[in-house]
Amino acid sequence: MKGFKPEEKPRRELHHILLSCIAPRPIAFVSTLGTDNTPNLAPFSFFNCFSSNPPVVVFSPSYRGTDGSAKDTLQNLRSLPECTINGVPEYLLPQVNLAASPYPPAVDEFQQTGLTPVPSTMVAPFRVKEAPFSLECKVRQIIELSPGQPASGNLVICDVVYIHLSPAILDEQGKIDPRKLQLVGRLGYSWYSRTADSLFCLDMPLQPTIGIPKLPESVQHSPVFTIRELALLASVPSIPEPDPSFVQHLPSAEPPVETAFLAGNTLGALRLLLEQQEHLTPQEFQLWIHRIAREVLQQYQIETAWQVLLCDPHL
Ligand SMILES: Cc1cc2nc3c(=O)[nH]c(=O)nc-3n(C[C@H](O)[C@H](O)[C@H](O)COP(=O)(O)O)c2cc1C
Repeated sequence: MKGFKPEEKPRRELHHILLSCIAPRPIAFVSTLGTDNTPNLAPFSFFNCFSSNPPVVVFSPSYRGTDGSAKDTLQNLRSLPECTINGVPEYLLPQVNLAASPYPPAVDEFQQTGLTPVPSTMVAPFRVKEAPFSLECKVRQIIELSPGQPASGNLVICDVVYIHLSPAILDEQGKIDPRKLQLVGRLGYSWYSRTADSLFCLDMPLQPTIGIPKLPESVQHSPVFTIRELALLASVPSIPEPDPSFVQHLPSAEPPVETAFLAGNTLGALRLLLEQQEHLTPQEFQLWIHRIAREVLQQYQIETAWQVLLCDPHL
């Protein structure tokens, strides 16, 4: 590991180190109003949600790195402490990026970007019609981290007072579907990430879990599992009971086991394995069970992986 104190790095380099490490970051596309009522739009990826009760989000327009002056968004919020924060899916990114140009305060970024201003419900600044969601916000507090210092942040702490969700991002139950929302994230330098094509689910353990030391010995000392797979298996509140319907519903596969496994029919391979169990030594059988469970864990299917392991009479 390369270690250093932040002050040992030039400011610009430190900026990129931090932004590359703290990534991907969500992007707030912030709409404010100038004292002359000019609408302003600008993106901020120093942004997150910090409380849902009360609903509070924070973003940070830094003082300009060039001369330490306040960006238009910050100036606007000092006179009218209200804004809307609009979501940024990939289809909006070109316009969002355009709005990041250092336009003078009198320029209306809605006009520059071709986006449509829509009156908000509870605040004066417009929301962006094309955005998949908009949060109407009232500023609770602005914390200056180092007044007037180039690139120093200003934490804009916002109470969310009204929320707009486009029906296009909702599933049949009315829940936001990230595959429909398709947000992008910002990383270091000019990198962005897509969310929609790299999604997976991993439930947070809400009860105390068994932890790695309580995994069965044969699993803990298996040559197949890495600490990563052990951590996934250890994230259950107790070792599950075998579910008889699991084995009954295994898909069929063309033998041999190896071919089905390599073809990606992991559970079909398990079915073949169970059919041929008596032709294998307990060690060979267990090794296969672990290989199949490891494959299932690649998809974060922890319950299924346990059902695979429970097929081993020597667990
Ligand atoms: C995706 C993206 C994220 C950005 N995040 C921030 C940020 O978190 N803080 C910041 O000060 N500037 C950020 N910027 C740069 C500002 O958007 C840019 O300085 C803009 O001109 C500010 O506009 P304003 O003067 O109208 O407020 C970001 C730019 C882009 C493209």
